[in-house]
Amino acid sequence: MKARQLLSKLPPHLRRDGELILAHLLGRRVSSLPLLESDLSPETVRRFRELMDRRIGGVPTAYLLGEWDFYGRTFRVREGVLIPRPETELLVEKILSLIPDEGVWGFEIGCGSGCISITLLREKENLRMTAGDLNPSAVSLTLENARLHGVAERIEVFAGDMFEPVAGRKFSFVVSNPPYVPAHLWGKLPREVRREGHLSVIGGEKGYEFYERFCAEVRDYLLPGGFVALEIGHDQGKVVRDLLVSAGFEVMIYKDYAGQDRIALGWS
Ligand SMILES: C[S@@+](CC[C@H](N)C(=O)[O-])C[C@H]1O[C@@H](n2cnc3c(N)ncnc32)[C@H](O)[C@@H]1O
Repeated sequence: MKARQLLSKLPPHLRRDGELILAHLLGRRVSSLPLLESDLSPETVRRFRELMDRRIGGVPTAYLLGEWDFYGRTFRVREGVLIPRPETELLVEKILSLIPDEGVWGFEIGCGSGCISITLLREKENLRMTAGDLNPSAVSLTLENARLHGVAERIEVFAGDMFEPVAGRKFSFVVSNPPYVPAHLWGKLPREVRREGHLSVIGGEKGYEFYERFCAEVRDYLLPGGFVALEIGHDQGKVVRDLLVSAGFEVMIYKDYAGQDRIALGWS
C-alpha cells in the first residue's frame, strides 16, 4: 500500500498527526515529498494503525513519537512532562536578544523537558544554566536531553520547589514557563493536555499563584542589573505586570503570533 492511500483514509483533523506518525515509522522528515509515494510494508501499516488508535484514544502525537521539535531541534518527551510549545520559542528569542556573549549564568524554574535551558545553551556557548523542577521525571528528562544536545557539562539540574535548590545563590537572569491555568479549568482541558500532568499546567485556584510567589522572592536571586523572563497566560498580562512592578521591576509585556499577551520581561 502507498502512504498516500493510507493517509487519505484519515479524517482531516487527524491528517497531520498521521503524517508525523508515518514519517516517524519510516525514519523520514514529514516535509519530504517522497513520503506520500512510499510503499509501505504490512508491518508498517500494522504499526501505523496501532499508533493511530492510541492517538484517537487521546494520547498526544508527541508522546507516541517520544520526541518533539522545539526551536529547530528535537527533544525527547515523555508522558507527564509538558510537550514543548511554539509560543515558548518566543520566550527563548527574547532572552537570547538580552544576554551578552560573554559568561552569564541563568536559572530556570520548571524546566520540564529542558527545552528552554538547553536551547539557550546551544545558542550561547558561554552561557551556563541551573534548572529546577518539582517533578523528578522532568529532572531526568532534562538531563537526558542535555546529554543528547551535548550541553550536559554546562547545566546543573535539581529536583525542588521553586528557589529551594538555589538558596543563597544569584543569577544574571531567571526564566520560567510556569503552570498558569486556573484549577477550575482542569476538567475542561482537552484530554491530551491533561496527560501532560496537573503539575505542568495548573497554577493554583486563580492560575497566577506561581507569579505571586515568584515576584515575592525573585529579587533575592538576581545579580545587580539582572532580569526575569516569564511566559504568561493570554489574560494574565495585567496581573503579572502589576506583580512585577510591585516587586520593583521595569516591565514589558509581549504578544505571541496570535496577538495574545504571552511574555513578561522585568528588569531590576
Ligand atoms: C508549563 S511546564 C514548562 C516546562 C518547560 N519549561 C517548557 O517550557 O516546556 C511547567 C513546569 O513547572 C514545573 N513546576 C510546577 N510547579 C513547580 C514548583 N513549585 N517548583 C518547580 N517546578 C515546578 C512542572 O513540573 C513543569 O515541568
